Amino acid sequence: MRAVVQAGYGDPADVLAVRAVPTPAVGDDEVRVRVRAASVHPDVWHVVTGLPWVLRLMGSGVRRPTPPIPGTDLAGEVESVGARVTRFRPGDEVFGETITGMQWRNGAAYAEYVTVAQDALAEKPAKVTFAQAATVPTAGLITWQNLPDLGLRGAGQRVLVNGAGGGVGAMAIQLARSSGAHVTAVDHTRKLDLLRTLGADRVVDHTTDDITDRDGEFDLVFDVVGNRPFAAYRRVLATGGIYVLIGHDHFGTHGRRWLGSIPRMFGLMARSTVDRRLPRPPFAAPDRRESMGRFHGLLADGTLDPVVDRTFPLDQVPDALALLAAGRALGRIVITP
Ligand SMILES: NC(=O)c1ccc[n+]([C@@H]2O[C@H](COP(=O)([O-])OP(=O)(O)OC[C@H]3O[C@@H](n4cnc5c(N)ncnc54)[C@H](OP(=O)(O)O)[C@@H]3O)[C@@H](O)[C@H]2O)c1
Repeated sequence: MRAVVQAGYGDPADVLAVRAVPTPAVGDDEVRVRVRAASVHPDVWHVVTGLPWVLRLMGSGVRRPTPPIPGTDLAGEVESVGARVTRFRPGDEVFGETITGMQWRNGAAYAEYVTVAQDALAEKPAKVTFAQAATVPTAGLITWQNLPDLGLRGAGQRVLVNGAGGGVGAMAIQLARSSGAHVTAVDHTRKLDLLRTLGADRVVDHTTDDITDRDGEFDLVFDVVGNRPFAAYRRVLATGGIYVLIGHDHFGTHGRRWLGSIPRMFGLMARSTVDRRLPRPPFAAPDRRESMGRFHGLLADGTLDPVVDRTFPLDQVPDALALLAAGRALGRIVITP
């Protein structure tokens, strides 16, 4: 089969090439999927470039990544199933994520075929395309794990999503709106129409307006970009309001080269034991099968309606990663092998 193979860490244009590789054998609990779409997201960029350096010690691979094929989130058709697979059969249309646990690892999805544990897949709802479905798993899990249950906090919660035009922010807007929240979405000028399409009640252009220059407006600040310290948001939090940092290294330009935004995340975690505005971070990973089932439901009922900007063939993965890092995409970027 054809696959994108990564020779080492570095500039995507230097380290990635399409090669002929053996089609992966299917294990007893696995499904082999003919990949129709695989999404491009910041964690793929991190593993291809090897930044921050610490990811190499966290399971990605010290000298070069293992496996050597990037990509984690996919949608496609079941081609064959292992002996113990009961939930799927050849021809089923599915979507899912090839890795579990640590996010900074290659998952071999940028290929014509990939094998996936059956519990990491769900049926693709007929109303969404392969490309749309492939954008959901990683961004969905990050959002679902970190977005507080707004329903428990009462109707009309005022939510601020900073960095709302990316994969996680877009998902946060749609999930918060479905809980009845009033959503203010912040991103670059060129993304404001996208934010409105996603359902934001109010949009703010971060190039002209400082969102932290207000008093007590928000019950939740969901900060994907983390371009300001927590202290800058204290003023905009209403009484009882909470601040959630997702953490974005801005493709190596903002985080530390060795440790990225990890020190900052640990600092907030430590503070969350004494500051009620910082929720305790979720330590347990969500159950994969249950999460995928939930995403199936949210796509099927239209709560999530992912916006895809562009698709690229396998041999243009470096261009796709460059577009992601440049921040020019209006919606998600998808590889179509
Ligand atoms: N906390 C966790 O559990 C966890 C787990 C895994 C991964 N992550 C991290 O979560 C992040 C996921 O983000 P994503 O997929 O949503 O990234 P993304 O698609 O790059 O989106 C980030 C958005 O923020 C915008 N932005 C940049 N600077 C801004 C500013 N100053 N003010 C407002 N908006 C700004 C970007 O616009 P431009 O494109 O125009 O710059 C972009 O639209 C990744 O960094 C990933 O590593 C977190």
